[in-house]
Amino acid sequence: MNIQALLSEKVSQALQAAGAPADSEPQVRQSAKAQFGDYQANGIMSAAKKLGMPPRQLAEKVVELLALDGIASKTEIAGPGFINIFLDRQFVTDHADAALKDAKLGLTPVKPQTIVIDYSAPNVAKAMHVGHIRSTIIGDAAARVNELLGHKVIRANHLGDWGTQFGMLIAYLEKVQNENSEEMQLSDFEEFYRAAKQHYDEDEEFALRARGYVVKLQSGDEYCLKMWRRLVDVTMTQNQQTYNRLNVTLTQDDVMGESLYNPMLPGIVADLQAKGLAVESEGAIVVYLDEYKNKEGEPMGVIIRKKDGGYLYTTTDIACAKYRYETLKADRVLYYIDSRQHQHLMQAWTIVRKAGYVPESVPLEHHAFGMMLGKDGRPFKTRAGGTISLSDLLDEAISRSRALIQEKSPHITGEELDALVNAVGIGAVKYADLSKSRTTDYIFDWDNMLAFEGNTAPYMQYAYTRVASIFKRTEVDIDALLAQPLVLADDREIALATRLLQFEEVLTTVSREGTPHLTCAYLFDVAGLFSSFYEHCPILNAEDETTRQSRLKLALLTQRTLKMGLDTLGIETVERM
Ligand code: ARG
Repeated sequence: MNIQALLSEKVSQALQAAGAPADSEPQVRQSAKAQFGDYQANGIMSAAKKLGMPPRQLAEKVVELLALDGIASKTEIAGPGFINIFLDRQFVTDHADAALKDAKLGLTPVKPQTIVIDYSAPNVAKAMHVGHIRSTIIGDAAARVNELLGHKVIRANHLGDWGTQFGMLIAYLEKVQNENSEEMQLSDFEEFYRAAKQHYDEDEEFALRARGYVVKLQSGDEYCLKMWRRLVDVTMTQNQQTYNRLNVTLTQDDVMGESLYNPMLPGIVADLQAKGLAVESEGAIVVYLDEYKNKEGEPMGVIIRKKDGGYLYTTTDIACAKYRYETLKADRVLYYIDSRQHQHLMQAWTIVRKAGYVPESVPLEHHAFGMMLGKDGRPFKTRAGGTISLSDLLDEAISRSRALIQEKSPHITGEELDALVNAVGIGAVKYADLSKSRTTDYIFDWDNMLAFEGNTAPYMQYAYTRVASIFKRTEVDIDALLAQPLVLADDREIALATRLLQFEEVLTTVSREGTPHLTCAYLFDVAGLFSSFYEHCPILNAEDETTRQSRLKLALLTQRTLKMGLDTLGIETVERM
């Protein structure tokens, strides 16, 4: 059920009937305050302007023509021409009841799109660090919500698995293999990469061999490919463990690394040259873009092939966008990449559009995010100033969660304790990230994210267990319950039910804008409304059987909404804590 969409349609029809131009937007929004009703239509003023009519006069006409029987109990004109809409209680009740009877809680089927989501994208032979965590967590939430709504989601893990550094990595892998110290070395990527680089910089002979391997790898040499695959496999096996720990839905099948596009690159460069978009400049192949100016105010040159014949990150992203449209048949492509790569993406996509590789009707969207900062407001680092590895971070989350849970819930032990510790620890790290608007930098603070008050994972998980516990304290036959009528009388019941019916509106916005923090804010709000309902409206001790059943049903809808909502965020729930 999407009430906002329904009301938009109704107000739109009334606007047309009142003579407003066809493109008039009804601008129906959820009202910020109860006194303004449940929804308000804000589009009257601009429609009136186009008509040259006093806005209040148009508002009166629209209200007269509005066919909201059975939907709204009251409409009011406010201020210069806003229309406040108060939902009919029976309408809310009926739709809440219908939502309960549906496995997808009454979500309207969408016209399915193929949505490619580029996220996580770590690099081979490098440990995933906190810089990849936001992409992984937020991108996965985007994948989940779009899938729930009914879209076809293609997860694209743009693994950094190609480039000149592979000569050096292969040469070093060969060296440690010969010395039989491979296992030890490869388990620590940071160290492996550093040591490889050191050999490359200091050992002439090693560097020569490394450069030879790059050329051989590029031309498909068996041995080099085998060594390269080994590096990729070891990296992805480790990363997969992190995905599993994080309850992230990525699998090995989702890897579409940079190497996938490598065979396309010569053709792309030739095509861009043939189209007159790319030209030779001092041996390199360059696309000059009027849209971007360099320091001298001249069109910026984007190199797509270096003088030595090597291709660049941009060339790969041009090919990759083309592939996602042509081969994967994307209707929409979302990129979860930190905001520092914005200019890079814009340049690549400007070239993509000019070359006609992806039509304008298929959006390429950069869902950028800011950096993760420490409490001191500086980039998040270890005490010694190194980058923090993601797995160390998760280890710390678990140990802090364990200490917290043992203190708060000493009655929980054994396997149940382990599962709870995991759900809260991992949930806290994820939720802290997901609950903030992604576009800004965010401060990573253990105490905040593990607090039981406020918009945090532990609070939401606890709120969920409170609802779930009602069904533990009494024997409830769910099927029989669902067959009972739903009768909502108290204002708090109506307020909660109305909010529960807005679930789809939130998910739709999150799908469109890639902003899971709106889901968090919504669920937090639902939890608050449930609390006040729970405090004022006895459920198990209700005054009569119909009320008792109705309140149980409302609690059940709350429980299912919280669960489904937290699922779209990849946050696990537990039955008690
Ligand atoms: N591997 C890159 C990095 O670690 C991120 C890749 C993002 N995706 C893309 N299509 N460029 O910075």
